[in-house]
This record gives sequence, C-alpha cells and structure tokens, in this order.
Amino acid sequence: MQKKHVYVSKDPSQHGHIDYGATDDATWARLYARQRAHIEGRACEEFIRGLDVVKFNQDRVPQHSYVTAQLDAHHGWGVQQVPALIPASEFFTLLSKKRFPAASFIRLPEELDYIEEPDIFHEFFGHCPLLTNKPYAEFMHAFGKIALQAKPKDRFQLFRLFWFTIEFGLMKKPEGLRAYGGGILSSFGETTYALESNIPERKPFDPVEVLRTPFRIDIIQPIYFVINSFDELFHLLDLDLMKLLAEARALGDRPAKFEPKGANKEYAGT
Ligand SMILES: [Fe+2]
Repeated sequence: MQKKHVYVSKDPSQHGHIDYGATDDATWARLYARQRAHIEGRACEEFIRGLDVVKFNQDRVPQHSYVTAQLDAHHGWGVQQVPALIPASEFFTLLSKKRFPAASFIRLPEELDYIEEPDIFHEFFGHCPLLTNKPYAEFMHAFGKIALQAKPKDRFQLFRLFWFTIEFGLMKKPEGLRAYGGGILSSFGETTYALESNIPERKPFDPVEVLRTPFRIDIIQPIYFVINSFDELFHLLDLDLMKLLAEARALGDRPAKFEPKGANKEYAGT
C-alpha cells in the first residue's frame, strides 16, 4: 500500500503572512481556473456572485488576512487559520464567533482531484463565497451557537444538518438543479457527479430525514438533499432543533448507503 501524504499546517510569519512558494501557487492557480470554469451553470447564482465579491487572487494562494477583510465587509465573517482537523468544540466555537476554520496548506499537485483532509482550496473556494450571502452566513453563525451548547453526542448527530447543507447541499432553481455545498463545489469530480450522475439519490430537504441519515466523510456521497432557497436554511433556525433531533432518534437512523470505513477496499488503497 502506498503511504498517504501527511499534510502539515504552514506557519505564518510574525506579520501573519504565509509564504507559499511557486508549487503551491501553481496548484491554486490550476485548481481555481479549472473549477471556476467547471461550476458555470452548476453552482447556484449566489455562489458565483459571492466569488465575484470575494475576488480571490487567481494566481496565488490567498492570505487568510485578505479573505477575512473581504468577508468582514459584508456580514462580519472572517477565516481563522487552523490545522486540518480540529476538535468539534473548537470548530463550533469559531463558527459562533463568525470565524470560519480554514487550513493553511494546499494539496500536492499529484492529489489535485481529491484529498481527504480539507485544504485551503476547499475552505476558501468552497465555503467563503457564500459567507457573503446573508441567510447562509446567519445560518452558519446560529448553527455554530446551537451546536456549541449541545451535548457532545447530540452535537455529533446535529452535524448531519451541516454536512448535508453547507458541505453537500443542492438547491432547486427555476433554471435547474444547482450546487451550493462547499464539498461539492471544491471538487471537480463531485460537481458533475452530484448534479448529473444517475447513481446518487437526491431527496427534498427535510430536517428530520437529514438527522436520520448517516454519512462518511471520505467517499463520494451516495445521497444529497435539495433545498429551494437559502431562506429555507435560515428558517430552519425557527424550529426547535433539539425536538427534531429527539424525533429523528425515535424513528431511528436510515440504513447506511455505504460500506463501513475499513471494509471499503478502494479507500484502503489496495
Ligand atoms: Fe468543508
């Protein structure tokens, strides 16, 4: 089995600047150009508008301070540099403070199409454009506060609401199905698969159904949930999420549409 590359955070200078170097900048430029063209007619219009607002440098890995300044001018959000994966309590604390956790490393050129860890391309390109959209930004903020107050085992299940919206959400538009989830829109392959393949299941968004649906982070998703607008996401916060969680628990989880981790030979790299 080939050893998987282990990514490590890049430390900023005392002035907060991260020096990425030519290879990392070239990787960003390649990913940006390819994905910007690919999402045309596939990403929802709010995402495209958000990209225009954030105005990423297309040739160099953007600095966290630049992205924070762009986001802050709209709904007070910013990005916080973190290692690839952080404890759930830290993740939700940052969201509750309108700080989106973002890694500082970028994938290697040989892993252009997929890495398991969320890198800076996923975090910046996939998530930041919509943080300039009011209902999306407010949903993210409120969700962070709710999850932070929840007990760890409740938090784990509540995260399904985040997973099937912020990460892998689809939206029904008059012009057709569009993607808004950052996990989809930062992935070349999953952008077409989520919208155009006849393999995955696409279900209308229903919070109890979402809370009953297990997921795996390291596979292409077998199921997506479709909302009608970001207001639908925002109005989710008018509901008693803990009551919905109790309802979902009483009904039980839906059977997983994937092999348990470890049983998947492809994932093991054999
Ligand atoms: Fe993400």
